[in-house]
Amino acid sequence: MTGAHDHPRSWRSAAPISTRRLLLREPEFGDVSRIARHLAEPSVASMLASIPSPFTEAHASVLVGDLLTSNERGDALALAIARRRDPGTLMGLISFSKSGSAAEIGWWLGPRYWGRGFASEAAVAMIEVAFRDESLDRLSAGAFADNPASLRMQTRLGFRSSGQGRRFCVARAALTDHINMVLTREDHLAAAR
Ligand SMILES: CC(C)(COP(=O)(O)OP(=O)(O)OC[C@H]1O[C@@H](n2cnc3c(N)ncnc32)[C@H](O)[C@@H]1OP(=O)(O)O)[C@@H](O)C(=O)NCCC(=O)NCCS
Repeated sequence: MTGAHDHPRSWRSAAPISTRRLLLREPEFGDVSRIARHLAEPSVASMLASIPSPFTEAHASVLVGDLLTSNERGDALALAIARRRDPGTLMGLISFSKSGSAAEIGWWLGPRYWGRGFASEAAVAMIEVAFRDESLDRLSAGAFADNPASLRMQTRLGFRSSGQGRRFCVARAALTDHINMVLTREDHLAAAR
């Protein structure tokens, strides 16, 4: 039995999500060349755990297929970040995937879109959707220790540091210092009040 808030399809049905400036919509195969171009940027790939370098259109195609499959399965929600006024142009991706009572959230934008608050705007909307699932207790995120932009963004969103460790970064081919961050349901509700 699944309840109204944990039906596997409920996350996908939240899309598309409109925010003030953005449209978060399901990725599609027409996005492959933009995803490939953005993820081929070392400044993006080196901040993500599992992006190979060089990153090709074939990699992007597999990625889109995987994201659509997990959206369909219902244990994750992965959405393209686009401007409302230009919904066809993918600027980045944002996703969370659930395991038990926790989910992990992550995001990236092509470098030309940095510094205008777009990632925060997308993350606020995705966090709200994730916590609609009443069985979700905590959202984890985190970033490599040399990624102050993402760490600052997470702190502003209410995430707190929950420890440090080392994670493998495929693009760097190296174990890399990583700060773990977590947003509990309690902190999320307190921040929303
Ligand atoms: C991290 C990333 C998504 C941020 O996107 P963005 O749209 O520029 O983020 P926002 O503008 O919403 O917020 C970034 C915050 O970090 C701050 N910031 C940016 N660069 C910074 C730096 N070098 N040092 C400290 N703070 C920095 C910004 O001022 C902003 O904080 P503010 O709202 O208090 O001004 C983007 O840089 C990116 O895609 N990077 C590569 C991939 C990546 O790191 N993904 C996340 C992996 S954990």
